[in-house]
Amino acid sequence: MNCTQTSDVSFKTFTGDKESIILCIGLLSWCLTAWVRIQGANSALIRASLKTENRTYDCIGSVSAKSGCWSFLKGGFILDSPSNLALLLFQNSDDKDIDITIASSSLQPFTDQEWRINQQYIINTQRKRAVTIHVSDQQGNRLQGAEITVDQVSKDFPFGSAIASTILGNLPYQSWFVERFNAAVFENELKWYATEPDQGKTNYTIPDQMLEFVRAHQIIARGHNIFWEDPKYIPAWVRNLSGSELQSAVNSRIQSLMSKYKGEFIHWDVSNEMLHFDFYEQRLGPDATLHFYETAHQSDPLATLFMNEFNVVETCSDVKSTVDTYIEGIRDLKQGGMYMDGIGLESHFTVPNPALMRAVLDKLATLGLPIWLTEVDISSSVGEELQAIYLEQVLREGFSHPSVNGIMLWTALHPKGCYEMCLTDKNFKNLPAGDVVDNLLKEWQTREIKGQTDEHGSYSFYGFLGEYMVNVSCGNRTENSTFSLSRSDETKHFSIQL
Ligand SMILES: *[C@@H]1O[C@H](CO)[C@@H](O)[C@H](O)[C@H]1NC(C)=O
Ligand SMILES: *[C@@H]1O[C@H](CO)[C@@H](O)[C@H](O)[C@H]1NC(C)=O
Ligand SMILES: *[C@@H]1O[C@H](CO)[C@@H](O)[C@H](O)[C@H]1NC(C)=O
Ligand SMILES: *[C@@H]1O[C@H](CO)[C@@H](O)[C@H](O)[C@H]1NC(C)=O
Ligand SMILES: *[C@@H]1O[C@H](CO)[C@@H](O)[C@H](O)[C@H]1NC(C)=O
Ligand SMILES: *[C@@H]1O[C@H](CO)[C@@H](O)[C@H](O)[C@H]1NC(C)=O
Repeated sequence: MNCTQTSDVSFKTFTGDKESIILCIGLLSWCLTAWVRIQGANSALIRASLKTENRTYDCIGSVSAKSGCWSFLKGGFILDSPSNLALLLFQNSDDKDIDITIASSSLQPFTDQEWRINQQYIINTQRKRAVTIHVSDQQGNRLQGAEITVDQVSKDFPFGSAIASTILGNLPYQSWFVERFNAAVFENELKWYATEPDQGKTNYTIPDQMLEFVRAHQIIARGHNIFWEDPKYIPAWVRNLSGSELQSAVNSRIQSLMSKYKGEFIHWDVSNEMLHFDFYEQRLGPDATLHFYETAHQSDPLATLFMNEFNVVETCSDVKSTVDTYIEGIRDLKQGGMYMDGIGLESHFTVPNPALMRAVLDKLATLGLPIWLTEVDISSSVGEELQAIYLEQVLREGFSHPSVNGIMLWTALHPKGCYEMCLTDKNFKNLPAGDVVDNLLKEWQTREIKGQTDEHGSYSFYGFLGEYMVNVSCGNRTENSTFSLSRSDETKHFSIQL
């Protein structure tokens, strides 16, 4: 029997939940979509799970369903062993008895090869661009046979990593970093507990020095973060404040950071992890977050303001941070008048599910905001070899999603190691995850191109987006020039006269 096809997905009702039996599925990536309607509650988080003979996939998709309308569930899974009999189950995530109706559900299988081809197609169309270089003499006559050399000198796609104060004065670390990355984020050094450990005693010495390092190497940096809703990481003196004292401390924090660093950071994570924690809302009222964004926007109207959250793209089993919860949170704040420009997805994975990851990114993309993977790593619990395999899956999925505008790794190096995942040992010798990153950095860059103009005096190629240097020579004449490739469906035309 061909295990790449499902039998029709038809549903039986058991005590309000929906179950469906799928016969015989092979080792594939599956995309799941379904329209869900509920009765018996105003709203409910409906979760899809899958049971095979050998394993239960706890969550392969979820949707916040509202009574009286159809809600769209999008998810997916990747089987790790073939299954003869799998059970697809739609359940209310709290155990309340409600009636679930499923319509137009679809399960679509993809082989690894099909998945890769799709990723490559997106990369070719979104991350690269066609170029035609025209070479002529000063009179405009086309020159055939001119020698062309093209070098990519910078990359348009921001790909970087967290750094810590450990990079200061550490020249091997600095040159290792600069050779690879065009973007950075300070792991902890901008956080409130770091810049103002005691009230009124702000000290920006360390972030200033880190900023000097990134500026010297034309590396862009994210500002992480202004507020962190998790009380564990709020300075003790701030936790001690309430009412107007807290309000004025909060205002000074925003103004101090944003006036000092006006224009320096490409993004500000204004409110970190607000789906999981709500310290400031508890103390300052339900509009606290809205107020943060308003004040930040007033302090620097050109600043790009982000949210940043975990367990949105990593899994769908965290009820606090499903993709729909994040979307609703962003919509609510925007309706309240919030200035918010980007969606941060922390991306701290254990075992990634690329099919679910794509479904989540697709749903978030409907907001039309840039999406960044802001803190990518794989849990140390899986071991170095699997960290590398999983990291490659996550990076490929991120880079090949058209709405993902940048990727940051959470791999700042300390004498004792890294948060969860290091790319190298302390002598900057690659670990398996470091090899993955180095290989992808090469793969996602245009190799040096050498060629000759044709009878129309032109030479064409596909290049990754970014800045290029081109050298043309014909006979005893030679000319250098630069051009840049930015995102567009059109072929870029560039002319050089000798
Ligand atoms: C379930 O796992 C066992 C042991 O790993 C394996 O031998 C068996 O083939 C698996 N069954 C299916 C249906 O994959
Ligand atoms: C500020 O921080 C730096 C680096 O930790 C430290 O050397 C310096 O003494 C601090 N300044 C004050 C005024 O505390
Ligand atoms: C918190 O407030 C109490 C009472 O005013 C004070 O004794 C204590 O030192 C404060 N703690 C911090 C960390 O500021
Ligand atoms: C450009 O090409 C000419 C002729 O091939 C060569 O002499 C020159 O060094 C090249 N310049 C660069 C920057 O590659
Ligand atoms: C370049 O070559 C042309 C003939 O191909 C010659 O007429 C001209 O003088 C040369 N120019 C120089 C600067 O050598
Ligand atoms: C091309 O660039 C190289 C190095 O940047 C320089 O040495 C050379 O003189 C340049 N050639 C022309 C014709 O501008």
